Amino acid sequence: MMAIKHKRGTHHRDDSCCVDNLSDSTFNMIREIIYDRSGITLGENKQALVRARIAKRMRHLQIPGYSDYIDHVVNDASGGEIQHLVDAISTNVTSFYREPSHFDLMRKVIDEWIKSGIKSIRLWSAASSTGEEPYTMAIELLETIYNRRLDAKILATDISSRVLEICLRGEYTEDKIAPVPQPLRNKYFTKKKDNAKAIYSVNDSLRNLVIFRQFNLSSPPFPIRGPLDMIFCRNVMIYFDKKVRTSMVGEFLRLLKPGGYLMVGHAESITGLSSEFKCIKPSIYLRE
Ligand SMILES: C[S@@+](CC[C@H](N)C(=O)[O-])C[C@H]1O[C@@H](n2cnc3c(N)ncnc32)[C@H](O)[C@@H]1O
Repeated sequence: MMAIKHKRGTHHRDDSCCVDNLSDSTFNMIREIIYDRSGITLGENKQALVRARIAKRMRHLQIPGYSDYIDHVVNDASGGEIQHLVDAISTNVTSFYREPSHFDLMRKVIDEWIKSGIKSIRLWSAASSTGEEPYTMAIELLETIYNRRLDAKILATDISSRVLEICLRGEYTEDKIAPVPQPLRNKYFTKKKDNAKAIYSVNDSLRNLVIFRQFNLSSPPFPIRGPLDMIFCRNVMIYFDKKVRTSMVGEFLRLLKPGGYLMVGHAESITGLSSEFKCIKPSIYLRE
């Protein structure tokens, strides 16, 4: 990991006092802080994105310059402002039933496992964002279990406390819920009105299946008890460099049971990171 070299409040102020001036050196400090805290690599071309995403927080705090804001981040002994910074920078795009082939395979495999007599199942959504992924896993798991007995739990983790609050609230607007087929919507959500807007709130059957925790994938060893049966780690690896990806996949290997599955995003691959995962389809790996 890159070290954060500057000491509390000692780096020179090189920005003028307006929110639209982000100097190269302040940008590089932000990149170091973000890498150190989350493993996210911000490319040199991300300056405009960083500027836009932090400006909102700066306006909220009424801090005019980026350099002043970074002073504020590193001087906040509680670590709360670094969390705000990571929240501002990380990309949380997600949706129900995103990349649906993973859920098709999940159902098929779990059905076979139940038929073979397994008594418990442990799944992990390793970058859960606002909850659409773990709740889709929960719906599909319950639909697969149907009326059979199985001790089931889904762990959902993310580095961002902001998205985890949304997971816990478990409320989704009409446009967010759209990919969930109507019969499943009726079965697993309660429709409410909020200021004339429809809100779908997850029912207890889903809520009780999922445990949410804040967790950093770039900081091994992971404080998770295995063995796990399936890990969904989708659309987060693209933000990590090879070093972070390799250590993360090493931890997945340690935690997954032999015969367990790892799903990554459709644009991602773990080829070359571990020889103990067999790619059975693009983005789907079997732990041998
Ligand atoms: C693009 S979303 C992907 C959400 C979901 N997995 C999906 O595919 O729809 C990426 C998520 O990864 C989280 N993330 C980024 N760095 C992380 C880290 N080091 N540890 C855990 N989560 C991280 C972000 O907060 C964000 O919610």
